[in-house]
Amino acid sequence: MNRNNLSYITRSNKAVWHPCTQMKSHETVPPIPIARGEGVWLYDFEGRRYLDAISSWWVNLFGHCHPEINAAVVRQLNKLEHAMLSGLTHEPVILLSERLSEKTGGKLGHCFYGSDGSSATEIALKMSVHYWQNRGKPGKTHFLSLEESYHGETIGALSVTDVNLFREAYGSMMKTNLTVPAPDARRAKQDETDVEVAETAAKALEATLEEHHDILAALIVEPLVQGAAGMVMYSPHYLARAKALCTSYDVHFIADEIAVGFGRTGTFLACEQARVIPDLLCLSKGITGGYLPLSVVLSSDEIYAAFYDNRIGRGFLHSHSYTGNALACAAANAVLDLFEQDNVLEKNKARTVRMNELCRPVRNHPGVRHFRNTGMIWAFEVQSDRPDFSNWFHLEARQRELLLRPIGHSVYFMPPYILEEQHMNHLVNGIMEILSS
Ligand SMILES: Cc1ncc(COP(=O)(O)O)c(C=O)c1O
Repeated sequence: MNRNNLSYITRSNKAVWHPCTQMKSHETVPPIPIARGEGVWLYDFEGRRYLDAISSWWVNLFGHCHPEINAAVVRQLNKLEHAMLSGLTHEPVILLSERLSEKTGGKLGHCFYGSDGSSATEIALKMSVHYWQNRGKPGKTHFLSLEESYHGETIGALSVTDVNLFREAYGSMMKTNLTVPAPDARRAKQDETDVEVAETAAKALEATLEEHHDILAALIVEPLVQGAAGMVMYSPHYLARAKALCTSYDVHFIADEIAVGFGRTGTFLACEQARVIPDLLCLSKGITGGYLPLSVVLSSDEIYAAFYDNRIGRGFLHSHSYTGNALACAAANAVLDLFEQDNVLEKNKARTVRMNELCRPVRNHPGVRHFRNTGMIWAFEVQSDRPDFSNWFHLEARQRELLLRPIGHSVYFMPPYILEEQHMNHLVNGIMEILSS
């Protein structure tokens, strides 16, 4: 068998069990074999291209095969590929930790690394419960999250994720936690502002905290945009209120910025828009520009101090083999370099304005509702009776050189930060064609 030929790759390959996929669906729609990537484009073996409008599950910030990130990884590869982070340390991880901490004004000065978003969630949840135990409050063992929240798919992360499909399959393995109403701006009644919606949700949070704060370790939120819920957007007012309430009820505020950190919402961190510093901050996805798996949880001095002791059992008990991998940290440092050198956040503001102008026909389309935008994330609902709408839309998009994967009836795009006018036109024209078909 010639393992290099295309038919080997394209035939239904059962050796790879794909994520978030009913494998039987590959009988009719096999995965696209990707040969290479360049900028916003992914190319298959027949030269067809796809504009990666969802940044490959929201990780790819500066396009595929970015020359500077490539070079940084290669430079690091020729020095040190990996060294365990227990008993050893290295320059890329120290540099990255200091730079990330600076992004919080030095308020979150301690970086604990994991390998992916879900492991960051696990770390934050464990750290919170262990903190309360070390501080003499062992009864604070439960968590609060928003309705329709998503924080990952390992067991701890699933227990703060509000998705029925997962509950039905894995509920028996999960701990029971509490949920509170989300401040979803789409819920605004006539003449109601997103701030008023947020205030109503904050009042519900207050009631829950008042009743249950004794058993609650932390509230975990996806700041400003609940991604997997279908890019549900909400006012920064909620973050400010939620943080203040958590502080007054002795409950940690965990900001899961795994999807929204690194400039996605327009500021480097989404929490900045509410002038909030969380107790624990989870980052992943864009951290390496979509190159290598890496995640990190930043914590406050107060949390760090609760673990600082002579007894091993009071230290934070968590480790992953690839913690602080040197190649991943080098990619992450290169990503931070790009932010600094290229004035990325300012340029994204101009991109956002232009994209919103170009999107006017989408917003005004009779089948479109709740068109919304935060920073470099756009979403809207499509009214459609088509069975399996999201798969249909995805396949139509493929035919128009676009990679889009709606969540239910919520179509969204979350493109890399290198989008130019011609890419925006390609994207909007493709969407308009699909909406009109
Ligand atoms: C907000 C949020 N938290 C956590 C995760 C889990 O990250 P990972 O898929 O890397 O485990 C995701 C992934 O989409 C996410 O959007």
